[in-house]
Amino acid sequence: MERKWWHGKTAYQIYPKSFCDSDGDGIGDLQGIISKLDYLQELGVEIVWLSPVYRSPLVDQGYDISDYYSIDPRFGSMADMDELIARAQEHGISIVMDLVVNHCSDEHEWFRRACQNPEGPYGRFFYIRDWHEGEPLPCNWRSYFGGPCWDLLPGHTDKIYFHAFHKRQPDLNWENPALRQEIYKMINWWLQKGLGGFRIDAIINIKKLLPFRDFPADRDDGLCAIQTMLARAEGVKDFLQELVRETFRRYDAFTVGEVFDEKPEDLPQIIGENGFFSSMFDFSQKLLGQDRRGWYLCRRPTAEEYKKAAFAAQAKAANIGFYSNIIENHDQPRGVSHYLPQGERSDAAKKLLGGLNFLLRGLPFLYQGQEIGMENRDDWTLAEFDDIGTLDQYRVALRAGCRPEQALAALAHYSRDNARTPFQWDGSEGAGFSAGTPWMPLHPNYRQLNLAGQRGRPDSVYEFYRRLIALRRSPDYAETLVYGETLPWLSEQHNLMAYLRRGERTLLVAGNFQAEEQDMLLPGPVRALLLNNLESFSQNGESVHLLPWQLLVLELEE
Ligand code: GLC
Repeated sequence: MERKWWHGKTAYQIYPKSFCDSDGDGIGDLQGIISKLDYLQELGVEIVWLSPVYRSPLVDQGYDISDYYSIDPRFGSMADMDELIARAQEHGISIVMDLVVNHCSDEHEWFRRACQNPEGPYGRFFYIRDWHEGEPLPCNWRSYFGGPCWDLLPGHTDKIYFHAFHKRQPDLNWENPALRQEIYKMINWWLQKGLGGFRIDAIINIKKLLPFRDFPADRDDGLCAIQTMLARAEGVKDFLQELVRETFRRYDAFTVGEVFDEKPEDLPQIIGENGFFSSMFDFSQKLLGQDRRGWYLCRRPTAEEYKKAAFAAQAKAANIGFYSNIIENHDQPRGVSHYLPQGERSDAAKKLLGGLNFLLRGLPFLYQGQEIGMENRDDWTLAEFDDIGTLDQYRVALRAGCRPEQALAALAHYSRDNARTPFQWDGSEGAGFSAGTPWMPLHPNYRQLNLAGQRGRPDSVYEFYRRLIALRRSPDYAETLVYGETLPWLSEQHNLMAYLRRGERTLLVAGNFQAEEQDMLLPGPVRALLLNNLESFSQNGESVHLLPWQLLVLELEE
């Protein structure tokens, strides 16, 4: 496999609105990020992915871009962005931006012009169709944030446009070469600035099944999930091939795709040698327990399910390329609240979950706050939710007959607002995030759980993550941890998640994913104990005794 500059690096996702506010308006910003570059370097990360900071009405928190060439004033200016890219480089960090090109904002110039003249060139940048009151819509697909994918084109009573997400996020028409050229121009403009690359949003959605058509309804709203259409749409690969050739490849840019609903046989083309992207996220654990009918029917995965999904993904990508491994991101609940059983959010358990995920083959991505063990809030009130998707899920649950308390409980667990509470820097008023009123309430536990209380404390979650990152970068183990294969060990042993990483050396990562003790047989003699999330280590001949939530990383004799 050809070696690439990003293979050995640890990536870190910043959700700018909630990371660090430098000017006291309650909203995180680019200068706030710049002020934390020393921190990111100390942690050991070398790639930082910024969720969108482009100009936007922030209907979907920046995933609705109204100008790809400017920074939203709430986050700063283009000068701040240039400064961030340059200063990050001095810290050994590449900046990766979010690329949201399935759709733009309804405030984008292109959409405004399309509304003014639907028959003109910008009308063809979108999917606009004639429609009259009482007629069926061109298709019955349900948008991701609820309701049909079609809405009246602003200023018109006889024209509608397509949106896979919110109605204020009109889909761009990739069938139109003129639109594609505009997108490539924009991407190259950013890459010329010295960006490391992009995280690519909702990319499989750029290809629609045309002509639009209905599918059998899967809820009583008469609509069907967009995924039904995606499973049948052919041709996204042609778009991706051209995109990559015209942009990323020219710059050796790092790209990580948000790829859902890909066809299994397409993995080599997506992340294989010369694939479309450097990597794509492994969402297989996230998908466990999900139910397309709504969050009120979702359930949390067990340790056994988590392990099986992780190993299956490792096997799938093994001879192909690198997944990017996560326990959470800005669209998911906090990993420690989701994958660890209720009442088991000890530091040991958090380190176990983080370590098991981090040491898998692939590129490790941490999400801001993960490194200090930030958790879901348990005490949400309905009025505190901000996310459009969350509010839709409330309606879905009530429609299905849930009582308001049940609906709220589902929201409290699954809402992506859990990941969006501000970073807990310290225990002072505002958590060191902002001198003003944070745009989203802080997690009430910030006075006990914060970076200041963990930095320099050897047994903290934070220092554990630093050790994980350092291990993956260390001259002795990098080769094995980055390029070595993953071999599950005793995968049938209940609530034991253990695997070998075998390359130049042989490492065993072993986690006791439960609150009870258990013994584990060793695959061979131990040469060194590299990492332990607890103090004791007890080996009896050919087996080790694992305490509740214990995680060990051992080097074995060849
Ligand atoms: C992606 C983003 C999510 C956003 C959606 C629409 O899934 O991660 O935050 O809402 O795309 O752009």
